[in-house]
Amino acid sequence: MRVFQHVSDIGDLHAALAEAQEVKQNRYAWEHLGHNKTALLIFFNNSLRTRLSTQKAAMNLGMNVIVLDVNQGAWKLETERGVIMDGDKSEHLLEAIPVMGSYCDIIGVRSFARFENRKDDYEELILNQFIQYSGRPVFFMESATVHPLQAFADLITIEEHKTCQRPKVVMTWAPHPKALPQAVPNSFAEWMLAADVDFVVTHPEGYELDPKFVSGAHVEYDQMKAFEGADFIYAKNWSCPGVTQPENYGKVLHDYHTMMGWTVDAAHMAVTNNAAFLHCLPVRRNMIVTDEVIESPRSLVIPEAANREISAQVVLKRMLENL
Ligand code: CP
Repeated sequence: MRVFQHVSDIGDLHAALAEAQEVKQNRYAWEHLGHNKTALLIFFNNSLRTRLSTQKAAMNLGMNVIVLDVNQGAWKLETERGVIMDGDKSEHLLEAIPVMGSYCDIIGVRSFARFENRKDDYEELILNQFIQYSGRPVFFMESATVHPLQAFADLITIEEHKTCQRPKVVMTWAPHPKALPQAVPNSFAEWMLAADVDFVVTHPEGYELDPKFVSGAHVEYDQMKAFEGADFIYAKNWSCPGVTQPENYGKVLHDYHTMMGWTVDAAHMAVTNNAAFLHCLPVRRNMIVTDEVIESPRSLVIPEAANREISAQVVLKRMLENL
């Protein structure tokens, strides 16, 4: 594997899930693979889980790990080609990327949507430059449009906790005071549509996700109706994807005070099939989900986060095997 971006990059999902369990049972069995190999993890944005779980996964595989917080201590990077660099940006990404590639064997990059230009975000301008100019395998640690390490960990968690062959999985929009990217819901939709689940998406009108990720999903605008009989509830906020309203790309469409009926609470969970609750974290309590639901025995948010180590280890293992 040279790039980990989409569900198609992982190949057969049954094989990937089996490998995840193998890794989970014996996570130090492949330490030899990473001997004298270096993973460089580059963060343009904050992180807790991705940073720690990916470092841990790389260490499990015997790798050396370098973490770079681009906005803390590195030169400020210009990303546009053709600009006269007379401002506060001292280095261009086009030099920085091959330099970074020369110090490592595998690169992971986190670079969120900037919400300045939908086309740039959805064409993955930053990550594609890493793929093109680093000379190294590149895995996405949440980009402008996808978060595949999260979606893979989500799928592992669903597989571990499902009680029927084809569970009903509902992804619900929930309120948030700030404009959040669509990377997590895009990837979750993409992975669920490839998995053996009955997938339903529910959100207010105007928050339609890009068909590139959600085409084929059942969209139900009535949240309570969507929740009926669900086996898993996956909550997430996202800003306007700009599909039906390009001028609103990256915006919060309503005052969140008026949308609090979308918060996942006990009344919502009561119409499900005793559903398990999932969220990628970090989560704003009593905005996205009530204390009662996230603290309930049906909440899987901690084992879900723990599975981030496993999803990252499978991806790094496959990249190391292919170096
Ligand atoms: N879920 C997730 O990616 O968490 P972090 O933003 O803390 O890495």
